[in-house]
Parts: sequence; structure tokens; C-alpha cells
Amino acid sequence: MTLVVISNRVARAKPNEPMTGGLAAALLPVVEKSGAIWVGSSGRVRDGQQREPFAQIESLGRGALALLDLPAAHYGGYYEGFANSALWPALHSRSDLIRVSQDDYDSYREVNAFMARALLRFQKPDVTFWVQDYHFLALGAELRKLDVKNPIGFFLHTPWAPHNVMSGVPHHRELIETMLAYDLIGFQTDEDCENFAGYLTLELGYTVKNGMVRSHFGLTRLAAFPIGIDVEGFTAQAMRAISHPDVSRLRKSLHGERLAIGVDRLDYSKGLLNRIRAFDRLFETQPSLKRTVSLLQIANPSRGSIEAYGNLQCDLAQLVSDVNGRHGEVDWTPIRYLNKGFSQTTLAGFYRSAHVGVVTPLYDGMNLVAKEYVAAQNPADPGVLVLSKFAGAANELTTALIVNPHDIDGMARTIGMALAMPAPERRLRWEAMMTKLRAGNIQHWFESFIATLESTRDITQPAPEAPRAGRETLGRGGAVLQWQASTALH
Ligand code: G6P
Repeated sequence: MTLVVISNRVARAKPNEPMTGGLAAALLPVVEKSGAIWVGSSGRVRDGQQREPFAQIESLGRGALALLDLPAAHYGGYYEGFANSALWPALHSRSDLIRVSQDDYDSYREVNAFMARALLRFQKPDVTFWVQDYHFLALGAELRKLDVKNPIGFFLHTPWAPHNVMSGVPHHRELIETMLAYDLIGFQTDEDCENFAGYLTLELGYTVKNGMVRSHFGLTRLAAFPIGIDVEGFTAQAMRAISHPDVSRLRKSLHGERLAIGVDRLDYSKGLLNRIRAFDRLFETQPSLKRTVSLLQIANPSRGSIEAYGNLQCDLAQLVSDVNGRHGEVDWTPIRYLNKGFSQTTLAGFYRSAHVGVVTPLYDGMNLVAKEYVAAQNPADPGVLVLSKFAGAANELTTALIVNPHDIDGMARTIGMALAMPAPERRLRWEAMMTKLRAGNIQHWFESFIATLESTRDITQPAPEAPRAGRETLGRGGAVLQWQASTALH
């Protein structure tokens, strides 16, 4: 089997370059080890008239990266428009932030169709396509229009909001129905999967039975596959990173003070304002903690040309400056606020240096920062994770200190508890979380999705046995494709 993975943003195999978003970080080790082709946007645009849409094809571990210049006329409407100003806010239950036009929807559909045409370059009988995230909801249907009969799976990295919220997306019925062209649709949590099934039932009149739905495309399976991380790899990276110059400088700057850390894209779903308010409340209610702890908040800007993101950046800068102005001292800054990205290696070292990890989104598909913070800890002296109940990760990391990100006082109290927690309790909680992380690591996510996609196809399209030569086992766990990208690139 040959696997072609498609996402808008891709990652490069450069450990010292900043990585934006959980999707890229999660897929990188999977592609490197499995030998898949990863197709995505180059970040550049072209007029779309050229015969060869791929700007660049390079190797990535055992796999390959194939980058497309997306059509200039449609890129803005697709990315800043429909994907990030209609779908993203709705998926995160912020339909009040939807701002799109008919042109944006048309551009989104055009880019999905463009990607489908480009993917024909890799189409062979043994290819499986695996589409990632909300940028490409209609890609499966576009491939079917081009008569592609291969298995096509889809995984959503964000939450799926309840049906009445999703019905605020212009053209939602037409668009969401196209998703039934996929053989398998994967979600982060059971709740997301149930919300999607609810949408199909209540808005489109389908019957979902045992996680299966029949449409004019055929049968589609719906299931949850909580995404994980490369636990051992990340732990090793965190241990090595301690000697990284940025990490050493951070540790030296602490002078015995303790550190809380937050690392997020600058996004309204991440609960950044409430987190800063919680620290403000902490220093107000427990003034003895002043000068003993500070928050390092890294907020990497993305989607900056969208109004809601620009507004958040201003509001956050103002709030941080207000809190620092009121609580700070000549030699102590309560909130160390950085508007830039860091490499995975540097972040791993920062996490290991921090006594508390604060991950408090208002709504988040999974949140891999929570998992990375846990994996980075020193087993003898682990830090404490403070985690929002609205992050998908809270379903698994139940021994974190779980908070409601809308309850500022509750968060302030919990951060205080985290700082006071004795080592034996920290170790017990951390060990329980590590057990969960190891059981649901990235390899497990990958293998279970692909195995479910294969078994779904066996039910829906019983076909002569596909050639299985070249299959091997990757790491621990079940059989997974193993294939060399070079065979499909020529
Ligand atoms: C989230 C999305 C990803 C996206 C990432 C970064 O994690 O689920 O699909 O790549 O954010 O967003 P950006 O718009 O900067 O690519």
C-alpha cells in the first residue's frame, strides 16, 4: 500500500526551526517513519495555469514532502476566508466570529478541486489517500468526481461543534454532505464524533447506525482516534535540550524562582486572556507568591491578517502590560510574554524547566502541548499540568489538575495548588499520565486509523485482495504500511 497524506500546513524535518500547530508536529514523525508522501501547501501562490502544480518534492525521512503552490486568485478566500473565518470559528463554537462571503466559499471549493487534480499525479491502484483537517472537507468528493476509487480517509484535528453551531456556516449542508465521500471520518473524541453524527441526523436526515452511514457515495464509518505524540522521542529531546543555549539562559534567569509555562498559537480558542487574568488573580489573592513564580507565555502569531486575531494580539499585549505594571518589581516580571515561535527542541527544554504547565483553552480538539509538557518532565521531580476540561486531552490526562477556563478564581486557586503540590503526589499524577500517553502514542493513532480504514473498505467495497507485498510492521503494534516514497514519485 502507498499512503498519500494531505494537509494544508506541513512540517520540515528541521529540529531547530519553529513548528506551527499540533497537526504538523504530530504528522512529522509518522511520515518520516512510514514512508508516506505528505502533500501540502508551499505557503506560496501561483497563477494556477502551470501544468506542474508541485513546486518542490523532497525527501522526508523514509517518506517525501510534495509542496504545491496554491492558486493565487483563490488562496485568500480559501485560507483566511472560508477555512479560518467560517470553519475554524464554527468548529470552536465561535460562530459569532464568522465573516465570509460567497467568493470565499467558491475559492475554498476551487482550492479543494485544485488539490484533487494535483493528487492525480500520485494515483495508482494501491494508493490510500488520507486527508487532514478542515481545510479540505470537500477533497474526498472532488477526488471521487475525478473517478478516483481508492480508499480515502479523513481526520479532523479540531473539535466538531454541536449541529446548531455548525449550521451557522454558510453552505453547511452542501459542504458537509460532501464529506460522506470519505470511507472513514476520524475525530479526536467520542463527543466530536457524536456531534457529527447528530449533524448528519438532524440537518441532513441521515441514519447513523453503529458508527456507519449510507449516502449516495456509499458507506462511511465515523470513529474517534485521539491523537498522541512520539512519547519516547519527545522525552529524549527534552533531556538533550537542557544544554540548549536558550534553555540554559532561561534557567539561569530564574534565580531560584519557579516557572509556569504556556505555549500556544495566538488564537482566541486558546483562552489566553483568561489565563493572564488567572495569574493576575493569583498575585492579588496570594501576594506572598510574588517574586516566587512567573509565567512564561509564548504566543506564536498565525493568521495575523484576520481581524479577530489582530484584535486578540492587541488585547493580550495590553492585558499583559497592565498585569506586569501592577504586580511587577524592578527585578521581577510576573508575565514573560513572547510573540514568536521556538523549535520543538527548545520548547521541550522549556517544558522540562517549568514547574507548572498551563494549558487552558476554551475549546481545543486535543492540544498536544499538554501531552508534550508531560512527556518532557523529569521523572524524579515532575511538574504539574493544569489542564482545561475543554481540551480533548482532558479525556485521557485525568490526573492533571482539571480546570474550567471560564472560572478565573478557580484557575487561580488551582495554579496555587499546583505550586504547593508535594513531590510524591506530583510523581503519582505524572506516572498515571505517562501510562496513558504511552498507550495512545502517535504510532498507535496512525496504525489504528489505517487499520480501521482498511477494514472499512473490506466491508464497503469487497475487492480482490490488493497486493500486500511490502507490508511490514512499524515499531510496536499491528501491521502498518511500509512503503518507499521513491516508488510513487517516478
Ligand atoms: C491547528 C489546525 C492545523 C493548523 C494549525 C496551524 O492546529 O488544526 O490544521 O495547521 O492550527 O494553523 P495555521 O493556520 O497557522 O496553519
